[in-house]
Amino acid sequence: MTSPEVTAFFDEATNTISYVVRDPEGDACAVIDSVLDFDYASGRTDTRSADAIIAFVRKRDLRVEWLLESHVHADHLSAAPYIQLAVGGKIGIGDHIKIVQDTFGRVFNEGAEFQRDGSQFDLLFSGGDSFQIGQLRGDVLHTPGHTPACLTYVIGDAAFVGDTLFMPDFGTARCDFPGGSSGTLYDSIQKILTLPDETRIFVGHDYKAPGRNTYAWETTVGEQKATNIHVGAGASRDDFVTMRDTRDASLAMPRLIIPSLQVNMRAGQMPAPDDKGDVFLKVPVNKL
Ligand SMILES: [Fe+2]
Repeated sequence: MTSPEVTAFFDEATNTISYVVRDPEGDACAVIDSVLDFDYASGRTDTRSADAIIAFVRKRDLRVEWLLESHVHADHLSAAPYIQLAVGGKIGIGDHIKIVQDTFGRVFNEGAEFQRDGSQFDLLFSGGDSFQIGQLRGDVLHTPGHTPACLTYVIGDAAFVGDTLFMPDFGTARCDFPGGSSGTLYDSIQKILTLPDETRIFVGHDYKAPGRNTYAWETTVGEQKATNIHVGAGASRDDFVTMRDTRDASLAMPRLIIPSLQVNMRAGQMPAPDDKGDVFLKVPVNKL
């Protein structure tokens, strides 16, 4: 089993981990779940996080083949189009994005100019699809539950699970966004846990955990099966659903959910500028 070279970029403002995944036999790479910094108070974007990835890629003369999104994130904006402009690559996401676009197209009362067919992305993956990063093979697992369109990218001996599993001592992702389902997430996680025990798992977020004061993002299928506090040691589907739904009812919305959804459902593009060339995001009142 090929072992890709994985470099993590941690964004402390949103607890997001972006990854550069490189074919060890060549110069091809993929960027997974990049971050465009956004200061909500001022409405200003910043490219510090994305520039760090671009600098890394350029310094090593890597060829970016893919800009992969695990899903439409609700807690940070994607920098995929910005990175694409600088170093290339095709932007990919799950084909269930159409459902997500339909849901949030309604929430934000988007007009017909907002296409709900996923055409803003370069490629829509279905579960079971495979792709190449140079000589490295990637396989796509459809792992819904957190959102309907969530994917896990299995690349060589590494699985990029987005927001399905988190580190074993933190557990799993919330399932209370529109279209989310804790039972569905449980089933998706079981799919991930059928990968070989030694498969490296790279999570999409980390928030530290009780008794752990440093950030972490790499674990294995074996560790998740044995010790994940929500699904490890053979936890049942019913118990998981009760735990997850109870916990989700107590969680606040992510700070950047309103800007994130509007940008990420457009593959990381801002809404079209108005007649003066200015760009605006909406704040739906009492809707989310
Ligand atoms: Fe998410």
